[in-house]
Amino acid sequence: MSEDKWIYAFKEAELKDGEKKALVIDGQKIALIKKSNELFAISNKCVHMECPLSKGELEGYVIKCPCHDWRFDIRSGEFLDAKELKVPVYELKVSDGNIYLKMKGETQ
Ligand code: FES
Repeated sequence: MSEDKWIYAFKEAELKDGEKKALVIDGQKIALIKKSNELFAISNKCVHMECPLSKGELEGYVIKCPCHDWRFDIRSGEFLDAKELKVPVYELKVSDGNIYLKMKGETQ
């Protein structure tokens, strides 16, 4: 049976606006992004050849993969040139200044 779980990711105050942070949470590579004081968490593996999106350029809500310039909307994970392709996005919440991500978990 699978159950979602909230896992601590980062301190909210330590992420500056416009900053992107590469993290490994629960074995998953995640790019945590602060944009206009909103937080976003997407997979840090580009769907093309798994380059780290956290190293890409952010323009508005669009991040450009550093390897071959594929562009993704950080709100939905959608690849702008073919919306059926997506990087996973993760739900997040802030509690007491700590950012938590909702991860899929397995229970025994
Ligand atoms: S790995 Fe991202 S565009 Fe190629």
